Amino acid sequence: MCYHCAPHAGTAEKVTSRRSFAQFLAAGAGLTVLAACTPEAPGAVAPSSGSPAASSSLAPSPTAVPGTTAEATAAAPPPPEPSPTPSPSSALPRQFSLTDPASPWLVVNKHRPLVPADYVPADLVQPAVAMSAFGEAALLNRTTAAAAEAMFAAAAQAGVAMVLASGYRSYGTQVFTYNGYVASRGQADADTASARPGYSEHQTGWAFDIADGGGACGFQPCFADQPAAVWAKANGHRFGFVVRYPWMFHPITGYYYEPWHLRYIGVEAATDMVNRGINTLEEYFGVEAAPGYP
Ligand code: DAL
Ligand code: ZN
Repeated sequence: MCYHCAPHAGTAEKVTSRRSFAQFLAAGAGLTVLAACTPEAPGAVAPSSGSPAASSSLAPSPTAVPGTTAEATAAAPPPPEPSPTPSPSSALPRQFSLTDPASPWLVVNKHRPLVPADYVPADLVQPAVAMSAFGEAALLNRTTAAAAEAMFAAAAQAGVAMVLASGYRSYGTQVFTYNGYVASRGQADADTASARPGYSEHQTGWAFDIADGGGACGFQPCFADQPAAVWAKANGHRFGFVVRYPWMFHPITGYYYEPWHLRYIGVEAATDMVNRGINTLEEYFGVEAAPGYP
């Protein structure tokens, strides 16, 4: 059975029909093996009631009005078009830009490229954490590096070995990474796992991938059950991190589950997301879903 088909969250339990695939791919920071499951019709996930997508404001459905007559309905003005940009779910007042790559609240996805595309953070540093990454992949922006140091130390105190597996990626490295995915699995599948150059959080220094101390299930769906991933999912918000590509939220984020990919947005916002049960930056900051490139 495909591991990825096992439910990891409430949403997953509602999805019963899937096909599996396992593919080998090359990543910029090293070789990555990915085994994943896709819904029967990629991009056509229709979460049932109570699922994150169904409960979000991204796809409002018509509401029946008791007592409305056919005539009144005919005479009534047409209902307003759903807004392409839903209202922000954030309870916090807007503190930071959603478009500046140097902002911790940047939302970059398939609809929101980095500007400029070849952006390079001005404050890249190497955090003092255990790592398997080297070269530029060992770097993060200064804020993220400090938060990562605090988080890795707390994980170690809790007896959880965590390793920085891949941090910063330049535009040029993302070209190499993305092209490797395309060469090994074709563009459509590549786009479910790797951002195109100029569209990756890794290029901002705000995101990094973690691995388990022993490297178990590295970059594979089964990493979700490794101690490092379990701990990071439960505690990352205390240090400002969220799991950016959660299980079964690909219709919103554009990417399949990546339990290893952590994104810094600050303690206040990350904690607010957890407390309010919001799973994606798109929903939290009220920007449109980005399942694919326009
Ligand atoms: N794997 C993530 C989506 C990236 O390439 O940035
Ligand atoms: Zn990543």
